[in-house]
Amino acid sequence: MLRLLAGLLVLPLLTAGDREAVLFDTDSGLFGDDGAALVMLLRSPVEVTVEGVTIVPGNVWPAQGAEYMFHILDLLKRPAVPVLTGAEEPLAHTAAMAREYTRRWGSLEYMGAFAEDPARIKPAPGCKLTGRKPRHEAAVDFLISEIERRPGAVTILALGPMTNIALALRMRPEIETKIKRIVFMGGNLHVAGNASPAAEFNFWFDPEAARIVLRSRIPRKVMFSLDICNLAPIRRAQFDEVAAAHTPITDLFSWDLGNRYPGFYHHPDSVTYLWDSLPAAYLIDPGIVTRSETQSLDVITNWGKFYGATQPLDRRVAPDATPVNVMLGLDFKRMWNLYKTLLTRHE
Ligand code: RIB
Ligand code: CA
Repeated sequence: MLRLLAGLLVLPLLTAGDREAVLFDTDSGLFGDDGAALVMLLRSPVEVTVEGVTIVPGNVWPAQGAEYMFHILDLLKRPAVPVLTGAEEPLAHTAAMAREYTRRWGSLEYMGAFAEDPARIKPAPGCKLTGRKPRHEAAVDFLISEIERRPGAVTILALGPMTNIALALRMRPEIETKIKRIVFMGGNLHVAGNASPAAEFNFWFDPEAARIVLRSRIPRKVMFSLDICNLAPIRRAQFDEVAAAHTPITDLFSWDLGNRYPGFYHHPDSVTYLWDSLPAAYLIDPGIVTRSETQSLDVITNWGKFYGATQPLDRRVAPDATPVNVMLGLDFKRMWNLYKTLLTRHE
């Protein structure tokens, strides 16, 4: 009995020491899946510590993304978490290219920030602008300095296009092997895309950046592509379960998924996916994944119908590239339980 008690007292100390240091790279949005991922991690202090939030263009342009992240951090009463913006645009892809794509090859399912005005910053619905500004130190420098400060100890959680990360790897190639691992949402192997028919949004928005990361020597690459994300839908029933909690966080969740995307209040039969919440959950409980495979992967960067699609890597062009651990099987019940528990917590 005494031994059990002593064990229980020591446990919190041991787990605190094991906490994973995470750099949270996001293309944000009002709440969606990026916001849910942040809530999950900040409410899991035994497993992870979020060292900073770096914003990348994707769903929205960076100034807007920072505003949305500040709003969520304020709701969580965590205003001290650093928020930094980095790249203002993808490495090569532009709105004009996306428009020309639709003229030549038909409509895109989703264009993200390419459909938005970069000069316009909206507050969260029903709120004033937070008035907070991202830190002046650029996100790319922050990524580099955090990795160099603790070689081998930092995990990058990449939840948007990989522009900031690719720039960091190009500015300081020696950090590649000092990153503990990158856990990311992006790409599609055996299923259709969700931006173009061929490509997943994060890879499609900045294919050149995704290619740099996939061809890098980062020791461990953990990929949550659409293949596993498609196994994690949110339908109206799940939406209602979370919305019923009526906390500041779940009210933001309800507004966003109810009115904006996928618009459950107006289209009750619509569906969205947990997407970025999966890699975040994996950092808290790797047991959500039931099957994975290791492959060497690349991205199509020739501008055309297949721009941004995932393809096998020709290792002759990147002999040092480390392989990718592709997550394929999901324990949805376990995932949903974790998501719902963390999102609906009253605090
Ligand atoms: O394809 C899904 C990805 O694009 C997610 O990161 C989500 O946030 C969306 O923008
Ligand atoms: Ca995202």
